[in-house]
Amino acid sequence: MSIQTIPTTPFAGQRPGTSGLRKKVTEFLQPGYLENFVEAIFLTLGEGAGRTLVVGGDGRYFNRGAIQTILRMAAAHGVQRVLVGRGGILSTPAVSCVIRKHAAFGGIVLSASHNPGGPDGDFGIKYNIGNGGPAPETLTEAMFANTQALTHYRISDAGPVDLDQLGSTQLDGMAVEIIDPVADYAELMARLFDFAAIRALFAGGFRMRFDAMHAVSGPYATTILEGMLGAPAGTVVNGEPLEDFGGGHPDPNPVNAAELIACMDGPGAPDFGAASDGDGDRNMIVGRRLAVTPSDSLAIIAANATVAPGYAGGVQGIARSMPTSTAADRVAEALGISCFETPTGWKYFGNLMDAELVTLCGEESYGTGSHHIREKDGLWAVLFWLNLLAVRGKPVGEIVREHWARFGRNYYSRHDYEAVDAAAADAMMAALRAQLPALAGQVFGSFRVALADDFAYTDPVDHSVATRQGIRIVMADGSRIVFRLSGTGTEGATVRLYLERYEADPARHDIDTQYALSELIAIADSVSGLRQRTGRDRPTVVT
Ligand code: G6P
Ligand code: ZN
Repeated sequence: MSIQTIPTTPFAGQRPGTSGLRKKVTEFLQPGYLENFVEAIFLTLGEGAGRTLVVGGDGRYFNRGAIQTILRMAAAHGVQRVLVGRGGILSTPAVSCVIRKHAAFGGIVLSASHNPGGPDGDFGIKYNIGNGGPAPETLTEAMFANTQALTHYRISDAGPVDLDQLGSTQLDGMAVEIIDPVADYAELMARLFDFAAIRALFAGGFRMRFDAMHAVSGPYATTILEGMLGAPAGTVVNGEPLEDFGGGHPDPNPVNAAELIACMDGPGAPDFGAASDGDGDRNMIVGRRLAVTPSDSLAIIAANATVAPGYAGGVQGIARSMPTSTAADRVAEALGISCFETPTGWKYFGNLMDAELVTLCGEESYGTGSHHIREKDGLWAVLFWLNLLAVRGKPVGEIVREHWARFGRNYYSRHDYEAVDAAAADAMMAALRAQLPALAGQVFGSFRVALADDFAYTDPVDHSVATRQGIRIVMADGSRIVFRLSGTGTEGATVRLYLERYEADPARHDIDTQYALSELIAIADSVSGLRQRTGRDRPTVVT
């Protein structure tokens, strides 16, 4: 066994985004494509004797093959030890947890999150640093620069490693430990939540449906819910991770998880429904005939945080992305704590958590989490809700309605216009920007514009500045219209229109959301020319 030096030439376009390098599987399968990117990661990190790395992925097509390559390259770059999830499986939150628990130098996550998998689907690779969170842009930019200057990569000719056998083996002098992908994560969850109370809840006949969407959270949910918490067998559906997610789109929202919604709306619905995405970091919370919006979920978790042992000491602060509804702000105000408003992207929460300014974070895009790790965490949110339901002894719907009665309801919806012409989308945003100075003070029907701007954020910890993060039109009563272009779409441009209207009166908390927002929807269209400019008469997806 020896270390080989293989000549190579750069590939264009290996610039990682916030979620790493995400491309079609067919692109990743080109000879040297993955190797080049991994070489760039190791060049950026520098050689480091004694380093431990964590490697795992969401089980999608090419997961196992990619891990074998990464292991052989890690051995060639002086890594001392690699922790790999059995079968190559580690959810994104589990990677973050394992890095932190074992004080690893960093980790490599193989996933394209909720993007479809399979030979024609997507694949992705992302580097996380020692705090368990995604690499900051300085690091990813350095990796990109390295991809553009490669002349060779180094790789061991040893292997392959048996990924299915727990325990330690050697690969060209490097220790490879195949670990139980669930154990460390489950142990952390058991410390944060009142497992005894949740066990008692299930023992008392409480019924739940967790839709793992044939993605990575299946083994985690099965072990924790059905194993440790005594939920009946069959609570977890679609629990076996498949390389193509069973042909589905593993993104938990009412559109993609329609089967779960139908079940929760139908006769004989269980008490509680939940779903998670491809790599296990997103979540959707569903009650009987009620899908809880991610914005409400964050606010409700914050208002009730102390029911969970891990948060019994209270919440330091809350952070939400700008387009996320301001429901959490009202809770923060009542608790007398700060609520930070950040640009879209979980990475903006990292500094706030490291500086202990916030405990809880959430985004409207079905992401919720806390300072226990540095990624959003789907199953964590589900376990929080179970803990809450166990302590309160009330159904989801009642908890949500009581929250609205106390804090008011933030009617909220996101309208996505997917795969629209990029130039038309850019022109719309430019026209909106040009209108901003004139918008403040204008009256539209029953709304008066109090603030209109292009959101900018100064990180309170490192003082870095992010500009052009979305057009905000904030009304005097707190209602908001927000326009953004998605940073994660792969085809053309995706326009996201976020709508929010506050209603204090509990007698008006049962209005259909789209109806409650209809006046704002009309204002959004007239201000932006959205439908005319995109040539679409309705959104592709409404959540
Ligand atoms: C990913 C990121 C999130 C982000 C979401 C939507 O899941 O991790 O932080 O909120 O994508 O981003 P987009 O730019 O498409 O609205
Ligand atoms: Zn994800």
